[in-house]
Amino acid sequence: MENLVPEETIEEIRQHFDLVEVISNYTVLKKSGRNYLGLCPFHSEKTPSFTVSAEKQLYHCFGCGAGGNLFTFIMASENLTFKEAITFLAGRAGVSLPERPLSSGEKKFKVLKEELLRINEVSMKFFSEALFSRKYGSEALNYLKRRGLKESTLKEFNIGYSLASGESLLLYLKKKRFAEENIEKAGLIIGRSRGSGYYDRFRNRIIFPIFNQQNQVVGFGGRIMDDSHPKYLNSPETPLYNKRRILYALNFSRYHIREKDEAVVFEGYMDVITAYQEGLKNCVASLGTSLTEEQAETLRRNTSGVVIAYDSDAAGEAAAWRGMDILAKAGCRVKVAQLPKGMDPDDFIKKKGKRAFEKEIIEKSLPLVDYKLEKIQQEIGVKAFKTPDEKLLYMKKIIPVLAELDNRVEMDVYLQKVSSQIEVQVDSLKLELKKFRNAQRRPKSFRKNEPEIEVNKENPPPAAEKEILAIILKHPQYISEVKKWLKKSDFCYAPFREIVDKLFEAGEKEKKFTEHTILSLFPGSEQQKNVATLILDVEKNPDCREKIIKDCIKKIKCSNLSLKRREIEKEISKLDKQQDGEKIKELLVEWTELKRLEKDY
Ligand code: GTP
Ligand code: MN
Repeated sequence: MENLVPEETIEEIRQHFDLVEVISNYTVLKKSGRNYLGLCPFHSEKTPSFTVSAEKQLYHCFGCGAGGNLFTFIMASENLTFKEAITFLAGRAGVSLPERPLSSGEKKFKVLKEELLRINEVSMKFFSEALFSRKYGSEALNYLKRRGLKESTLKEFNIGYSLASGESLLLYLKKKRFAEENIEKAGLIIGRSRGSGYYDRFRNRIIFPIFNQQNQVVGFGGRIMDDSHPKYLNSPETPLYNKRRILYALNFSRYHIREKDEAVVFEGYMDVITAYQEGLKNCVASLGTSLTEEQAETLRRNTSGVVIAYDSDAAGEAAAWRGMDILAKAGCRVKVAQLPKGMDPDDFIKKKGKRAFEKEIIEKSLPLVDYKLEKIQQEIGVKAFKTPDEKLLYMKKIIPVLAELDNRVEMDVYLQKVSSQIEVQVDSLKLELKKFRNAQRRPKSFRKNEPEIEVNKENPPPAAEKEILAIILKHPQYISEVKKWLKKSDFCYAPFREIVDKLFEAGEKEKKFTEHTILSLFPGSEQQKNVATLILDVEKNPDCREKIIKDCIKKIKCSNLSLKRREIEKEISKLDKQQDGEKIKELLVEWTELKRLEKDY
């Protein structure tokens, strides 16, 4: 990651704070041995597993795996980027950030984004004034009021109206001296296909400004007021608006989501706004049925529990399921609400009230797997499984769902459940599961020179890979030595391979590392977790580090060679002695060569 702030300044900021003190603002810490212990601020737990080392100025949660230093802590708990966290902390430490001169490209882009923000801001006001003007906005205002929105809500969400004329916004912005070129880049006008000139993108629509988490307007959604199409028109992707990232209303609801440690995810603008108005404030809209990885990551940073509350038909869509899986993979407890047929959350809340929505919908939402099982059962269309055909069909459909589970307890619970549903023994289900998983596994060719072990809870990373990585992370001076012997591809464990890749690359630049600068090499939270865990791992024999490194290199090399040999053995056993004699000979030569190499190490 490119650091715009000089290393010394980052270090100065870090030195200014005591991590224990900083974290104490977020959770209660008690001294426990050499470390401090408390409840993890990043996931909900009853027994403390969040450890802070005052000496190392690092933290780690043994429950959820979160870990890092001052900067990662602030990034995660304030939901900031690295750069933003630095700025945030610099302000509190009274350290001024020397502005590194931006490259001319960066400067241009920054200036452009600022201009687009101004254009959006002015447009938002223009839309809002139009909504509340007698002359132009009364139809739109009546429509919104008919749909139950109060004036205070409209103002809070900055809802507006775009005139029907087709160039009123364009003319207004031009009068304010904004360049057409930039207005187009903001996505607010469209070039005419015939002739020259532009016209307004949003015409005769209710306008919902879309904010980022810094409360800046980055885009707009516009709803038509009758049944014509498209019902919604949104800003195109612009330098400010990235629809994979944005969660509508998060700027309003973030505080409530954190306080409740739960987020309700709706599909639409109207659902969020109504819910929020009626007092259910911990909600956002995904603006589409399939949540993206970026959105999931953002949610995870703010809460550990998410309830998906989509319209009843939308929740069953494949895209919606994909989004829910992404959320679960990001580490959220996912539940799915079930709405009465044909009703969306907005209808429900308006008809029955917020209380009823909480009691009948949110509280009764099902954990993701239960929800999927129930949906599959509904699909098959029976209340209980009686015939062998029904049972088989059910099993066939639920095996892929179960195969996704990587928690043993959870797996056991669901195996039991399914076993009693279809009256089949748990062992038979396990067998089917195994078959399914084997079939899923990519066929591996022995010629592949990058042996790779599958990452899951049952496959711990190879000890030698872990040990050597922990050493070079803590003592980067050994990177160049290790690099002489091992390639990135010698690491079988994919997450480690990525870490090694970055370390080797950074090691080349001969930079001076500290544990903290190393962490900043890994901006993704998953990698950061792994790195922090490795750094915090206590070194067993610091005195014979060099010998350990040598041993690890040897072990890694040998285990890769023997892995390759085993692949060859498998290959040979599949071949026919009569028919493939030549091929078998070739493989045997290769096998012998590998064996020799292995001995030499
Ligand atoms: P109302 O119909 O006014 O209650 O709006 P809603 O917000 O409940 O929308 P709906 O449930 O129909 O759709 C959910 C979300 O999907 C909307 O908020 C939009 O973000 C998106 N959406 C719906 N229709 C369209 C469309 O025609 N075009 C685009 N781009 N997005 C749409
Ligand atoms: Mn709706």
